[in-house]
Amino acid sequence: MEKKELLYEGKAKKVFATEDENYVIVSYKDDATAFDGLKKGTILGKGVVNNRMSNYLMQLLEKHGIPTHFVEEIDYRDTLVKKVQIVPLEVIIRNISAGSFAKHYGVEEGIVFDEPTIEFSYKNDDLHDPLLNSYHALALKLATKEEINRIKEMAFEVNRVLKEYFLSLGVKLVDFKLEFGRLSDGTIVLADEISPDTCRFWDAKTNEKLDKDRFRRDLGGVEDAYREMLHRVFGE
Ligand code: TMP
Ligand code: ASP
Repeated sequence: MEKKELLYEGKAKKVFATEDENYVIVSYKDDATAFDGLKKGTILGKGVVNNRMSNYLMQLLEKHGIPTHFVEEIDYRDTLVKKVQIVPLEVIIRNISAGSFAKHYGVEEGIVFDEPTIEFSYKNDDLHDPLLNSYHALALKLATKEEINRIKEMAFEVNRVLKEYFLSLGVKLVDFKLEFGRLSDGTIVLADEISPDTCRFWDAKTNEKLDKDRFRRDLGGVEDAYREMLHRVFGE
């Protein structure tokens, strides 16, 4: 299928229509933002890494029975996916303390949790993606009770699969953000992307950061970190 008109341009991706209204083509950019778009930059090759890694992980999750939007990789930057209506929730799973968790609760980074945590934020840049719980999400009619339960169940299952997979590559899956969408028949599927933009990856031996925190925190070696994660997944 070919790209038709541009439907939407986000911070890291463009979405194009296709000749079939049930499918869209996602095109990954090298643009990077942080802090609700306040910090802007370019990470050379990021679009390729995120597209390829996300597609690989979506297919791995499908094999484990988790439905996703993935259909077919068109080339290194472009992927055909099922068109979904995005549920406006950012679903965050954490295995180890870091980032906003460490800041909010005044703890150091690197505490390994006995059980993973889940939290939601309202996907709304103008409001700075405020945290909310499932009652708030229901009150705001962002999703139904059944959808929220399904999303929680799927998110923890994604964590079980990915945590084990990344550990086999010598990488700790510290935390990550997922987004879900509704197909036209209402089925909830995993959507958006799973990449160094949306996950924290630490080297299992050295705890070196191999993700977008290198950009957010001006640590340098940003491109190298993305390349290293591509290397761990594809051996290239
Ligand atoms: P946080 O610790 O800043 O709340 O981030 C938790 C995880 O969510 C981390 O892996 C990065 C990811 N994330 C996004 O994908 N998009 C965002 O806008 C934010 C703030 C975090
Ligand atoms: N997606 C966020 C933004 O620019 C940045 C982040 O991942 O921290 O708003």
